[in-house]
Amino acid sequence: MKKRLVVANWKMYIQSPQEAKKFVSTLRRRSRLFSGVEVVIAPTHTLLSTVVLALKGSQIKPGAQDVSIFDSGAHTGYVSASSLKHIGVTHVIISHSERRAQGENDEMFRIELERAAQAGLTPILCIGETERHVDGAHFNVIEKQLSILSGLKSAIDKLVIAYEPVWAIGKTASEAMRPQELTETVIFIRKTLADYIDRKDALKIPILYGGSAEPSNVGDLLKEGQVNGFLVGHASAEFDSFIQILKACKK
Ligand code: 13P
Repeated sequence: MKKRLVVANWKMYIQSPQEAKKFVSTLRRRSRLFSGVEVVIAPTHTLLSTVVLALKGSQIKPGAQDVSIFDSGAHTGYVSASSLKHIGVTHVIISHSERRAQGENDEMFRIELERAAQAGLTPILCIGETERHVDGAHFNVIEKQLSILSGLKSAIDKLVIAYEPVWAIGKTASEAMRPQELTETVIFIRKTLADYIDRKDALKIPILYGGSAEPSNVGDLLKEGQVNGFLVGHASAEFDSFIQILKACKK
C-alpha cells in the first residue's frame, strides 16, 4: 500500500490568512519530522490561495473542503473543480457529513466526484453512519453511500475514501471508534468497494479514518484498525496536536 495520508480538515477553525500562513509555513519547516507521510491541508475557500502560496514547492498539498456540482455559468456563490485546479489545489473533500447535514445528497456527490476527476483533482469521498445498530444496519448505510461509485470509472483512479462515523465526530479520543470496530468496518468497506468497482482497484484505494482522531488514539487506530491514514478535524487546527499525529503516522 502507498504512503500514509493525513488530511487536515480545518473546517472553520482557522479563519485568518495570518494564522493560516504561520501554521503552514511552520509545518513546512518541520516536515522532516514526518517525512514519508503525505499531508493535505484543507482550509476554507477564502484561505486556499494563502495556503497554496505558502506550500509552493513543498510536499504538503492544498485541498478544498467542498466543490460545486456545476462547472461554470450562472451559479452564484459556488466554486467549481476547474477553478480550484487553476489556483493549484490538488485534493477535494466530497460528501462530508457536515455537507450531508445541509441537504446535499448522494446524487450530488456523484456529480462532484466526476467534476473533481475531470479537473484532475484527488477526491476524498467521506462515508459513515450516523449511529451504530446492534443488528449491523449501519453497514447498509455504508453500502448505499459507496454505491455511487458503481460505473464511475473516471473518479476511481485517484480516489481516497474517508470513513467518518458521524457519532464520533467532534468528540474526544475516548469517544472515538475503537480499533477493533474500525478493523471490521474497513474490511467491510474494502469488500463493498470490490462489489462496485474493479477488485484490483478496490485494493489500492486508501481508506482513512476520521472522527476524533487525536494524538492519543491514532497509533492504535493505525496499528490495529488497518487504515492508511486520517481525516482530522479539530486536532488538525492545533499545531502541536497535528504534528504529533503526523509523527505517529511515520513508518
Ligand atoms: P473531528 O476530528 O473534529 O472529530 O472531525 C472529524 C472530521 O469531520 C474531519 O473531516
